[in-house]
Amino acid sequence: MKIAIMGAMPEEVAPILEKLGEYKTTEYANNKFYEATYKGVDLVIAYSKIGKVFSTLTASTMIQHFGADRLLFSGVAGAISSSLKVGDLIVATKLAQHDLDITAFGHPFGYVPEGSVYVEADAKMIEMSKEVAKEMDKSVQEGIIATGDQFVANEEKKNWIADTFKADALEMEGASVAVVCNALNIPFFVLRAISDAADMDASFSFDEFLEKSAVESAEFVMKMVDKIVG
Ligand code: ADE
Repeated sequence: MKIAIMGAMPEEVAPILEKLGEYKTTEYANNKFYEATYKGVDLVIAYSKIGKVFSTLTASTMIQHFGADRLLFSGVAGAISSSLKVGDLIVATKLAQHDLDITAFGHPFGYVPEGSVYVEADAKMIEMSKEVAKEMDKSVQEGIIATGDQFVANEEKKNWIADTFKADALEMEGASVAVVCNALNIPFFVLRAISDAADMDASFSFDEFLEKSAVESAEFVMKMVDKIVG
């Protein structure tokens, strides 16, 4: 078993690397990959840099070059659902790309060519996350995550994404990672802690809460790893 743990930003993987202590660093495809053995299981960890292209490259590299056979994503997101507040955790049930638009050819918004609008996350890891939440005494919501190459800081855009995709949170990497994992038959799990409400104050909120929310998410994902290896 080799587990990939990925984030988009340094702040999202730093708490994981801190927990591991020792790891080997390999440079590949203009990025750094950190390998470690944790409780007898091999891990590969990386932050992709922001956006769908980098996250696609990194997920694909972790699977095809480093041999990961499952992938857990940890990071922060903007809330759409009013029940999600800064610091709250959301587990993605399925993900869609809100900026993928071939509607001119009769497809719905977000439709992936020769695919579908949504990609579903691994049901077993979602089930497992409920046990982890109980053990940590944390409330974790499940919901739809919408991904796009935009930092959303605008109510109108956020409402459009909410209406079009029934999404509960939005970010910039989850759905592209989902497409990669789905194509390569790799079970995946996406967890996000809320950093902002994707409104006009989003950039300030993001700067203020990125680090704290990233730690919340990373702690939960490491408990998931404990459960998977244990
Ligand atoms: N990640 C965290 N907050 C976000 C936002 N408002 N838009 C896109 N990605 C985000």
